[in-house]
Formats: sequence, C-alpha cells, structure tokens
Amino acid sequence: MQVFLNGEFMPATQARVSAFDGGFMYGDGVYTTLRLYRGRALDLAAHLERLRRHAAALALPVPLDDAAFAADIDRLVTLNGLREGDGRLRITISRGGDPDDPLPLRDLGRLAPTVLLALSPVPAELAAWARDGIAACVLAPGSARGGLAHLKTLNGLPAVLAQREAAARGCREAILAGDDGRLLEGAVSNLFLVAGGVLVTPAGEDHLLAGRTRERILGLAAGLGLPCASRRLELADLRAADEAFTASSVREVLPVVQVDGHPVADGRPGPVTRRLQAAYRDLVEKALPAAGPPAA
Ligand SMILES: Cc1ncc(COP(=O)(O)O)c(C=O)c1O
Repeated sequence: MQVFLNGEFMPATQARVSAFDGGFMYGDGVYTTLRLYRGRALDLAAHLERLRRHAAALALPVPLDDAAFAADIDRLVTLNGLREGDGRLRITISRGGDPDDPLPLRDLGRLAPTVLLALSPVPAELAAWARDGIAACVLAPGSARGGLAHLKTLNGLPAVLAQREAAARGCREAILAGDDGRLLEGAVSNLFLVAGGVLVTPAGEDHLLAGRTRERILGLAAGLGLPCASRRLELADLRAADEAFTASSVREVLPVVQVDGHPVADGRPGPVTRRLQAAYRDLVEKALPAAGPPAA
C-alpha cells in the first residue's frame, strides 16, 4: 500500500513521522475517515470542511487546499490500483514537532504540520453486518470520548478502549454513555433508534461527534416524511426501541439487532432501517463525483 506523507507518495512501510510530533506526543491533531466507492471519495468537500473547522479549534494549520487534497487522493487511489475499488481513506493532520520545544505553547504557526493520506480496505464482513445486523453493548456511564468529543482529534484512546471492550464482549460496536448515563454515540458511529414511528438520535452536539452520515440520514428521513427527533436517550429507550442502527461514513447504516445480549424488538433489522439503508445507497450513487481522469 502506498501512502501520501507530507507531499510525497511512498510505501506505507517507509512512512516516518518525527518522534516529537505533537500527534505522537499528545494526540495534538485531527483526522477524518471517508469511504471510497469505485475509487471516488464520498462527500470529500464536507469532510474537508469539518477537518478544517476541527483543526482551527486546535489552531492547527491545514497546509493543502481542497483541490490539492482531491488531486493527491486521486493519485493515491491510482497508485494503489483502487480506481474501481472500494476502500477507506483516512486524512490525518498533526502538529509536527520541534525536538527543542516538544510541548509548543505559542507561535504554533512555525511548526510544519504532518499530513498523511492512507487507504485501507473496508471490513470484509461489512455486507453481512449490513444485511443481518450487529450486536452492540452499552458501556458504563463516563465512557464518553471526553471534553473534546465534538471534535475528531487524535485523542482516540476512549474510542479504542471502547472498541476493545466491545470486541471482548463479542460485539461490533460500543455505545458510549455520558457521566449521567445518557447515551451519546457509538465508538465509531452515531446512534439512531426508532420508537413509536419516530427516528430518534441522541441530542448533545457538545458531547458527541455529530457525523456527516448522521446529517445525511436526518436529511433522507425528512425527505421520506419520517418524523425525526434529537433528544436525550437512555439505556431503557434503546432496550425498548422498535429498531436501532448505527451510522458512519465507512460502515454506512448498520442495523443493531442485539444490545447487551438482548434482542432489539424481534432481533431482526427493522423496516425503517431498511428504507434508510436503501435511501443511503441511492444517495451514494447520486452524490459520488464523476469518475476522475484515467490513470496517468
Ligand atoms: C465517535 C464517532 N462518532 C460518529 C462517527 C460518524 O461520523 P461520520 O458519519 O462523519 O463518519 C464517527 C466516525 O468515525 C466516530 O468516530
């Protein structure tokens, strides 16, 4: 696999970042993860807009404009032979580093940020998860991603630990809960449930990542005439839900058919989830950019 690192394309095994990079030392950086369909990135402009907004919150410069990102991604796709393939693209920007000033507090602009573009396959089981649904577990109160949960920073440890705990419990996703026990989001997704004919997603944009797919799903639901709400949700709401699903750029819409070992409703993906999966698939086809130029 080839990656793009700081202006150069190289084999992933040769990609090196300074030991003093703030991303490595302190998680000082941001990232976004997108889905590639037939070599084309869905919603690149929206992901870059969010990446820039989150980088600005850390006073982190993003040294490429959108056209340069698009061109470098296109080249990376070609170099990796993915012109017709699906995949996952991660864009990472970190602080860069100065060995003489490993914890820079001012004049941050003098540091050259690190920019990494890396591709990886989507999970091989994704189609089966989308068809059959997944099991999720709800983690203990206080498992939320912390005070910067509304930003996609490199402080990924709460989500990493949550995913490991979910895996240890035989689950594909962990649902994170705030200190007061309210449900917030998945470790790598946003949460939706259907209750009494209403599509509901947790409120609290300051305490969760309000993802691009969440926004897309709410737009699709409105277009389908489904009543939608964003409100406080608790474990009991999820247990009593008629349907539940997770949403993210890479995994799209995944029915949640079991929570903490209990079936959600009859334990099968529900009709609203199926409608939204189909609507999202249509949206992907319509929203994908036209195919790029043939490989140089
Ligand atoms: C914690 C968290 N919440 C939500 C999401 C979904 O975001 P998006 O739809 O923008 O991919 C992600 C995606 O990785 C995530 O890590």
